[in-house]
Amino acid sequence: PRTDDRGDLIVDWYDRAARDLPWRRPGVDAWAVLVSEVMLQQTPVARVEPVWREWLARWPSPAALAAASPADVIRAWGKLGYPRRALRLREAAAVVAAEHGDVVPDDVAVLESLPGIGTYTARAVACFGYGQRQPVVDTNVRRVVARMVHGRAEAAPARATDLLDIAALAPADHDRAVRFSVAVMELGALLCVAGTPRCGACPVRDRCAWRLAGSPAYDGPARKV
Ligand code: ADE
Repeated sequence: PRTDDRGDLIVDWYDRAARDLPWRRPGVDAWAVLVSEVMLQQTPVARVEPVWREWLARWPSPAALAAASPADVIRAWGKLGYPRRALRLREAAAVVAAEHGDVVPDDVAVLESLPGIGTYTARAVACFGYGQRQPVVDTNVRRVVARMVHGRAEAAPARATDLLDIAALAPADHDRAVRFSVAVMELGALLCVAGTPRCGACPVRDRCAWRLAGSPAYDGPARKV
């Protein structure tokens, strides 16, 4: 029997409180998800939104982007920052067009083999783009796990166990498990923020190891395992 309902509580909160972001809407394809994740890695949501729309209108497929000149790609990236990301995305698009029939792969290991695509982005595409049950761990998720599971004040450095920690909390139901991955990111982005979290609005405030420990102050980085 399932005694830990935190995953379901987080999904229910997401369903009523999450931001309506365009790349989360139904029917958004894996290419659009991939573009969104690369853009969102170092740039806030508000700045990504208009650039993401224009990008996909201009280059609706990997092959379309691969055919563009690097100069046009850099220009379209505009003020998102870290323009090397744009060139790496174009390189990844070229591999998808040439070797995968212009279809973004749905396998995490294949995705990770693409230029510039790390384990975070690969899992995000498999989960948000293809509806797979996949743990997706970014800084926000690491902070939620540090607090809710380990009772620590802030995120630990990336650890091998992060994927297992978060997978263990996912609801049993497939569709809810898929939503859970983005829901934990959203919880970390909106409520379980660095510094002073907004625990009063948190769906798992009564089941959070950090709160149950009396919300101890940050005491230095956790040991890496
Ligand atoms: N939704 C899906 N992925 C996201 C991200 N990286 N940042 C914000 N919202 C997201």
